[in-house]
Amino acid sequence: MLNLDGLKINSQVFVAPMAGVTDYPYRQILREFGAEVLFTEMVSSQGLVQGNRRTRKLIHFNRQTGVEEGKIGVQLFGADPDIMAEAATIVEAEYQPDLIDINMGCPARKIVNSGYGSALLQKPAKAARVTEAVVQAVNLPVTVKIRLGWDEENITADEITEAAVEAGASAVAIHGRTRKQFYSGEADWQAIARIASSCEVPVIGNGDIFSAEDAREMLAETSCAGIMLARGIQGNPWLVKESRVFLEEGKKLTPPGAGDKISIALKHLDKAIEFYGEKKAIPLMRKHLAWYIKGLSHASKVRNRINKMEQQQDMRNLLLNYKNYLED
Ligand SMILES: Cc1cc2nc3c(=O)[nH]c(=O)nc-3n(C[C@H](O)[C@H](O)[C@H](O)COP(=O)(O)O)c2cc1C
Repeated sequence: MLNLDGLKINSQVFVAPMAGVTDYPYRQILREFGAEVLFTEMVSSQGLVQGNRRTRKLIHFNRQTGVEEGKIGVQLFGADPDIMAEAATIVEAEYQPDLIDINMGCPARKIVNSGYGSALLQKPAKAARVTEAVVQAVNLPVTVKIRLGWDEENITADEITEAAVEAGASAVAIHGRTRKQFYSGEADWQAIARIASSCEVPVIGNGDIFSAEDAREMLAETSCAGIMLARGIQGNPWLVKESRVFLEEGKKLTPPGAGDKISIALKHLDKAIEFYGEKKAIPLMRKHLAWYIKGLSHASKVRNRINKMEQQQDMRNLLLNYKNYLED
């Protein structure tokens, strides 16, 4: 059991925030697969403070889960301590999530050029001020999500972690890559292990977990308190359950069949249409559907057809026919 300043967490398996992926429709699916702790996509502190409607839609959540009470973290990005504090206050008052996370890892040019995300890794004092401002503003546990540093010559994760903990962070999630790497190369689990070994609060290891075995290996190699899944759950919510069952019971689950994958893809499509409406859901669902069917027979042909579709009924019919074909 993990304890983040009073927030009790049973599972060691966290699901990472992913912009454009871990939205409300997909989070509902992830809950069904046993995700105890989920995060919203990253949310602009500036957008929240300015009352931007689209920013608010990113936060919508519920806590239902078939496994136990689900927890949700709202991830904020920004670099102005006052604006971050104000945004956190709004989030706490209006949404009452279980925790607030601060994004110090996003490598996107648009984000770092404004001083947000992984740009904060170059400024430990500022990262500390942002963390402290958010911690002071709310009664919720505050976590930070970081990378190792800007580039390999500037590894600042040790310093940033220490500063964040000093400022009151309840846990630190570490993606074992630098900003310069984006998603290339391998995540450095040894670096995560080094930081975890001297950190006073739980460290959650992140980077390159694509199977339940990877999850166990990361825990063994890093001695982290928990692990965080990201790209591994794209089109693959089964990984949450597979990781949990493997870590908690030592059992390997049978991988999903082709029909199971299409069934969940259809359910996901329904939830996306319900939440966004058809016009917005269709383009968003194209990538998810491509992930669900990846590796199945004739997937690229089906993907090409999906990419040309504009109507939910066409997508649904294609998926149902594909399911019948795969199950024959
Ligand atoms: C499409 C995509 C969107 C992401 N969006 C966010 C985000 O909003 N906030 C964040 O902290 N990290 C974000 N990340 C980073 C992931 O949370 C994670 O740290 C990274 O993918 C490394 O884990 P992995 O190797 O298991 O994918 C994103 C990653 C991807 C691939």
